[in-house]
Amino acid sequence: MNVLETRHLSKMYFSKKGGFSHQALDNFNISVEKGEFVGVMGPSGSGKTTLLNLLATIDKPTNGDLIINGTNPAKLKDQKLALFRRRELGFIFQDFNLLETLTIRENILLPLALDKVRQKEMESRLMDLAGTLQIDHILNHRTYEVSGGQQQRAACARAMIHEPALILADEPTGNLDSKSAKQVMDSLTKLNREKNATILTVTHDPTAASFCERIIFIKDGKFFSEIRKGTNRQDFYQSILDTVSVLGGDFHEHESHRP
Ligand SMILES: Nc1ncnc2c1ncn2[C@@H]1O[C@H](COP(=O)(O)OP(=O)(O)O)[C@@H](O)[C@H]1O
Ligand SMILES: [Mg+2]
Repeated sequence: MNVLETRHLSKMYFSKKGGFSHQALDNFNISVEKGEFVGVMGPSGSGKTTLLNLLATIDKPTNGDLIINGTNPAKLKDQKLALFRRRELGFIFQDFNLLETLTIRENILLPLALDKVRQKEMESRLMDLAGTLQIDHILNHRTYEVSGGQQQRAACARAMIHEPALILADEPTGNLDSKSAKQVMDSLTKLNREKNATILTVTHDPTAASFCERIIFIKDGKFFSEIRKGTNRQDFYQSILDTVSVLGGDFHEHESHRP
């Protein structure tokens, strides 16, 4: 079953005064199966954030449909939509978005708090994820007492603890040095392989992208091409670099180091 499917997904931005409009996403079709680890890449202005906002159900398409785990979120009323988002989606942001007043443990458990999951069940999910992501020794620390990489791995645990249908990540390594970035991408790989998490991440970094199993390239709001990882990550990385160079445009701080 597809966890995510978009059909002719389109988003047009209109200026307040009228007259000006911009087609930020144009007939964009993707399907993501359960257990996939997908990256989305494209030059600056190609529509990545627009796509992510639609998938996150915080913005609505002007045309086309979006189905997540069998539901079209555009058909839900506000309260049901909020519940849908909380249950079916997990989010990882570029700047971690952990609450400073809480410990790492409390941050990770936050998505379960509203759903009254039994204490024993919470603890067992927490310890399982913390072990997998190697953050079990910092659970009682505050966010400012741990490194950026550790904060982002805690954010990965928080995105997974309620076992959502789909995890959406927006430049999850954008604020990290290359070593921490690799650890975070390794963590996402583990969630994908060991916990069967379905993950879609936007990234501009070819090294981070090479951890994914499939990359979808977007240009001018349209599907451009896609490539799948074979057996060799180095070859995949090279194909990513080749496509990035064909695409042209601005890929921000385009890194040149190899994985
Ligand atoms: N709220 C908005 N109003 C008008 N135009 C927008 C708005 N948000 C984004 N755009 C335009 O839509 C296009 C896609 O933007 P975006 O999705 O942010 O691209 P990316 O994340 O790939 O850099 C860009 O040309 C951008 O200027
Ligand atoms: Mg963006």
